Amino acid sequence: MAPLQDDKGTDITEVSIPKRPISTIVFIIAMQTEASPLVEKFQLAQESNSVFPNGVPWVRYSGKYKDLNINIISPGKDVVLGVDSVGTVSASLITYASIQALQPDLVINAGTAGGFKAKGACIGDVYLASDVAFHDRRIPIPVFDLYGVGTRQACSTPNLAKELNLKIGKLSTGDSLDMCPHDEKAIVANDATVKDMEGAAVAYVADLLKTPVIFLKAVTDIVDGDRPTPEEFLQNLAAVTAALDQAATRVVDYINGKNLSEL
Ligand code: ADE
Repeated sequence: MAPLQDDKGTDITEVSIPKRPISTIVFIIAMQTEASPLVEKFQLAQESNSVFPNGVPWVRYSGKYKDLNINIISPGKDVVLGVDSVGTVSASLITYASIQALQPDLVINAGTAGGFKAKGACIGDVYLASDVAFHDRRIPIPVFDLYGVGTRQACSTPNLAKELNLKIGKLSTGDSLDMCPHDEKAIVANDATVKDMEGAAVAYVADLLKTPVIFLKAVTDIVDGDRPTPEEFLQNLAAVTAALDQAATRVVDYINGKNLSEL
């Protein structure tokens, strides 16, 4: 196939990677408990002039940290029930709206996840996901089956992973905290080490809008362990969030001053 060219004759067959330092980062973080320590760490302020439509609960914190414009976007509280709007629907919407409004150089989806001890995960581990896919979109018709799984790769960051000594694993996403036998089969087929409720949705939107994305997931509960997931998740949420924030800060410090191709 002949290479695609823009109107100046530049090859745009591949997503072009800017050769300038990363300047704007968007964090997509589903829960307030996960976002708040990072908002404080980077000394971000909540935006009052929203770039989002009137009336949505979505929250943007922004500010300058070192040479970076950092934005933390959360879906906010469900307008009826008052709980964090976790899951793929809100995650897709805020990822789309944030990329449209802020044109970031990089999206980072950070949050907590369930981990599989059979794949080496322990409570408090922070994973950099290499690949993401859905485990609860079962469409047993040829090709639709692959669409449902929706596998995507994270932006390649070998230097970041090596330098920060982050664990690498595949991430599987679904809209439930628990795991039914159907989901388990799909998670095993996805070869996942960690399981969350947003990652593959963020990846879908970032891919549509040609925006590089990475995933940082901290393990709050062992899915293939013997404790009930909600109990283990809630017990570990605060401590594991501290580990996530520490890792996210190291990632941001590493990114500062670098091009995407250096990550
Ligand atoms: N977030 C934290 N733990 C999780 C789990 N077990 N499944 C999905 N998302 C999670």
